[in-house]
Amino acid sequence: MKIITVNTSQDVGEAAALVLASVVRDNPSAAIGFATGSSPMPLYEATARMDLNLNRIRGFALDEYIGLDAGHDQSYARVLQREVVNRLGLAPSQMNIPNGSASDPEQESEDFENGIRATGGIDLQILGIGSNGHLAFNEPPSSFASRTRVVELAQSTRRDNARFFGSIEAVPHFAISQGVATILEAKKLLLMAHGTSKADAVARALQGPVTEDFPASAIQLHPDATVVLDMAAYSACKGAPIASGAATNYQNFSAAGKETT
Ligand code: GLP
Repeated sequence: MKIITVNTSQDVGEAAALVLASVVRDNPSAAIGFATGSSPMPLYEATARMDLNLNRIRGFALDEYIGLDAGHDQSYARVLQREVVNRLGLAPSQMNIPNGSASDPEQESEDFENGIRATGGIDLQILGIGSNGHLAFNEPPSSFASRTRVVELAQSTRRDNARFFGSIEAVPHFAISQGVATILEAKKLLLMAHGTSKADAVARALQGPVTEDFPASAIQLHPDATVVLDMAAYSACKGAPIASGAATNYQNFSAAGKETT
C-alpha cells in the first residue's frame, strides 16, 4: 500500500488527480469507479483543472441510495451528474449507475455487478471511508466475499449523511452498494480522506486488524492501493510518515507530499 500525506484537502485532490491521470494516460478507455460523498470532491475539482482527455473512459458508480426520486438532488445519480459528468465534460452515457428506483433492486444490483464484469473489470476504483469504517455502503460487518447488493445503512452513517439531506429522517435506510469483493477486484484502489473526523477510521483501516467487522480494513488485502490523506486524517496512525523523496509522479503539486509504503 502506498500512503501519501499532504497538507490540505485541496492537496489531497491534486495528488489523487495525478493517480487518476496516470491510469487514464496508460489506458484512455479505462473503467473508473466513482465515489460520492465529500472526500473525492477535491479530486474531481483538481481533475477538471488538468488537461486530460476523458472522452473514452467508462464510469461506474460505487453505490446509490434506494428510494429517492430519480431527480432528487442527493441521489448519487444526480451527484455524479453534477460533480463528475458535467464537471469533467463526460457524455452521460459514459456513467453507469444502479437505478435506486428499480422495482427489483436485488436484480438491479446483480445486473450492475454483471455490467462491471462484462466491461472487463474496474481499472481504478475511487474510494472514501465512512467514520464507522464503511467502504462504499458496506457497513460493519460486511463479508469480504460480498458483491453488489442491497444493503441497510447504519444509523451512524445516516447521521453522518444527514448534513446532505437537512435531517436524518430524510436519509434513506437502504442502498445498492458494490460489495467488498467487487471493490477488491478493481485493478487499483485510490482511497482519500481528510479531516480529524476520519483519523480513527483511517488508522483502523490501514493499521488495524483486517476484519469484516471493519470493512475498510479490506484495503490492506489489495495489491495496488494508494491512500491519499491530509495530516489530520493521518494523525491517529502510528509512526510519522516517512518522506521518501517524493516520487517523480507527485512532484507537480504544491503540497509537502510525503509517501510511505
Ligand atoms: C458515504 C458513501 C461512501 C463514502 C463515505 C464517506 O455515505 N456511501 O462511498 O466514501 O460515506 O463520505 P464522506 O466522504 O462524505 O465523508
